[in-house]
Amino acid sequence: MSHAEDHTGTRRDFLYYATAGAGTVATGAAVWTLADQMNPSADVQALSSILVDVSGVEVGTQLTVKWRGKPVFIRRRTEKEIAEGRAVPLSALVDTNAENENLAGDAPATDQNRTMDEAGEWLVMIGVCTHLGCVPLGNNSGDFDGWFCPCHGSHYDTAGRIRKGPAPRNLEIPVAVFTDDTTIKLG
Ligand code: FES
Repeated sequence: MSHAEDHTGTRRDFLYYATAGAGTVATGAAVWTLADQMNPSADVQALSSILVDVSGVEVGTQLTVKWRGKPVFIRRRTEKEIAEGRAVPLSALVDTNAENENLAGDAPATDQNRTMDEAGEWLVMIGVCTHLGCVPLGNNSGDFDGWFCPCHGSHYDTAGRIRKGPAPRNLEIPVAVFTDDTTIKLG
């Protein structure tokens, strides 16, 4: 079993709901982080950005890593997924904003503005549904060949853009950059 498949399997079991209890914990953690920033330890600095080895991610698979307490999907898209994503006009989208922290805030949600590389092979997204925070299922799930959130039925396309269901926004793209051919730095 490849590294990527291994993580995909783990992710399938990693479905959770945002709850009032989790909100309370998050608030506590945020306060703690703020206080700790006055005297940041090496541990905290290490958590703010991570390097991910993507050398084992084959075309058509997804690696899921946990970063800042959230799942991050790193998908290496197939030619078919790229073509499907690029064929969608902006007028067909629910959220026309790229929701990509690496671009200007008003960048449109073209397929090209959602991916890391010119060929459109690499897609990195926070794996949290923008409705109420469940972790969507991947591997060409849903009506648009991308991700599907079973909690209330949100369908995302091959570029992680919301196409159908209650979620209001595209899956968020975090700050991410290739530091070499096989390493992605998050944050
Ligand atoms: S949390 Fe994903 S559809 Fe409601």
